Amino acid sequence: MTDVPALPLRSGAEIPVVGLGTYSLTGRSGTRSLTEAIQAGYRLIDSAKGYGNEREVGEAVRAAGVPREELVVTTKLPNDEHGYDAALKSFDTSITALGLETVDLYLIHWPMPQLDKYVETWKALISLRDEGRVRSIGVSNFSVEQIERLEAETGETPSVNQVELRIGHEQAELRAFHEAHGIVTESYSPLKHGSALAKDETVRRIAEAHGVQWNQVVLRWNLQLGTVVIPRSKDAGRQAANLDLFGFELDGDEMQALSALRP
Ligand SMILES: NC(=O)c1ccc[n+]([C@@H]2O[C@H](COP(=O)([O-])OP(=O)(O)OC[C@H]3O[C@@H](n4cnc5c(N)ncnc54)[C@H](OP(=O)(O)O)[C@@H]3O)[C@@H](O)[C@H]2O)c1
Repeated sequence: MTDVPALPLRSGAEIPVVGLGTYSLTGRSGTRSLTEAIQAGYRLIDSAKGYGNEREVGEAVRAAGVPREELVVTTKLPNDEHGYDAALKSFDTSITALGLETVDLYLIHWPMPQLDKYVETWKALISLRDEGRVRSIGVSNFSVEQIERLEAETGETPSVNQVELRIGHEQAELRAFHEAHGIVTESYSPLKHGSALAKDETVRRIAEAHGVQWNQVVLRWNLQLGTVVIPRSKDAGRQAANLDLFGFELDGDEMQALSALRP
């Protein structure tokens, strides 16, 4: 089984550098895929109330037979439940659906600047963390300015900002800000434009040189930027390939060639 390294979070907890994206993994087949993924070595699971699969994630955590403390279960607060009280209520429904005692990582899914409630929502997450119901708190899809506002108004920096980050969209400025502030960058949709990347000459050449698959080259690029990556697959074979990223390393020229692609 692949032993996945972890990064420290500012909360004191750790986050594995590869996790399972779970968008659309729902129902009985979703529970089965999630359970198999945990049994195959995934320790970070990325759910959201908006994905409608918190129940399935909780079932898989209980069915997989892996000690609870080894798992980093993530869920996210939806856009229509911003506000201090609304966020606390929303968390109650999430943890009930999960059927777990604690959530390891709780994120605000989107900042929703038009509502202008993300600071009070963040205060609710701080309360949940202080009560011990959540181990680490973070955000998703937040800009530098929005994180700076959280820091200025609450004195609390998110452990994680989960953003779209992939070849062709490498978020250099945001990553530099995260690094300076001790925030872990989590990359979502790393395999977007996968059909173009699978056929791309540069990706194929690099994959061949290392004896790996195109998707492993793409995900390894995310890892070597210093980010956590959360590819989604419903298929056990593809899940295993997406986790098997630690037997090769891209050199500087390969990283640059991949960064120059615009799929
Ligand atoms: N915070 C946010 O706003 C946000 C937004 C988007 C996504 N996310 C999170 O990030 C996760 C990942 O992003 P994503 O779901 O957009 O897409 P993704 O992981 O970039 O790509 C998923 C697609 O790639 C295919 N795939 C996966 N592994 C493959 C492989 N080894 N070979 C060939 N095809 C492969 C999957 O098909 P199969 O299932 O058939 O393998 C699926 O169609 C989400 O599931 C979610 O947890 C968060």
